[in-house]
Amino acid sequence: MTLSCHDLLSVADLTDGDISALLETAASFKDISLRQIKKVPTLRGRTIVNLFLEPSTRTRTSFEIAGKRLSADVVNISGAGSALAKGECLKDTAKTIEAMNVDAVVLRHWSSGAAYKLAQYVEPPVINAGDGAHEHPTQALLDLLTMKDSLGDIAGAKVTIVGDISHSRVARSLIELLNRLKAIVTVVAPPMFLTPGIARLGCRISYSLDDELEGSDVLYLLRVQKERQSANMFPGFAEYTRMYGLTKERWARVSLRCKIMHPGPLNRGVEIDPDVADSLGSLINTQVTNGVAVRMAVLYLLIGGGAEHE
Ligand code: CP
Repeated sequence: MTLSCHDLLSVADLTDGDISALLETAASFKDISLRQIKKVPTLRGRTIVNLFLEPSTRTRTSFEIAGKRLSADVVNISGAGSALAKGECLKDTAKTIEAMNVDAVVLRHWSSGAAYKLAQYVEPPVINAGDGAHEHPTQALLDLLTMKDSLGDIAGAKVTIVGDISHSRVARSLIELLNRLKAIVTVVAPPMFLTPGIARLGCRISYSLDDELEGSDVLYLLRVQKERQSANMFPGFAEYTRMYGLTKERWARVSLRCKIMHPGPLNRGVEIDPDVADSLGSLINTQVTNGVAVRMAVLYLLIGGGAEHE
């Protein structure tokens, strides 16, 4: 089994069959991470380059672990430690990596569309690990797996996404996938955090978190991206927490079956109370665990070519 696409740049690259295959394969890979010897020979002899030109903990580490658990050779390149810091352009870096006969390139980049550019420069598959405010397909896939495991069925689930939608590549990928799986999606944010036309992705818009607490199956909180706020537009963190933070008081009003999700990194005390983040309803660490399995599935289905993985 392989994916229908050559690169994974956007969730739009995936057919419904691809999404099912990825979720099923990821579920089957979870077990490998629980074994004492966490390795299978599936991608032995393959080389994967992680080109991370923007900071990352979860995505970079989980792609590296995913590749290694499948026995691939994984090479990490960061902006600061590479010739990019000396002024080399992305195209020349890409061509240099390609000339070493690698089998896949995973790219994290600050600029929307950078993964598309890279895919034009190189022949091996490119996986978008987050490009600017555009897309983060593997995050959306791991979020789907986490919701599916917790809720059973995504169709009809009420998912409320709260926060800085305008800067969120996670939100864009997730809303599209949730729509395709027939979840009911509401985005909650102050107007300055909403992208014009976001409703066209297939979600309801609300300006009040208090109005949306009851009835949500998942409260999906987004990080307030401090580094991207314009000082004269953003009213301040205390005001944001008062209006849109998942405080203890708000969490007490939510149904016991409701789950909390967050892609990380968290601003504890801003979009989420620290105790609420660590409460039993939180799936935040489960998302991270599932990230390894999903990235194993992406690598396997893109470059494994149907090799046995037991
Ligand atoms: N969710 C996510 O992309 O986290 P990192 O920036 O740590 O990879």
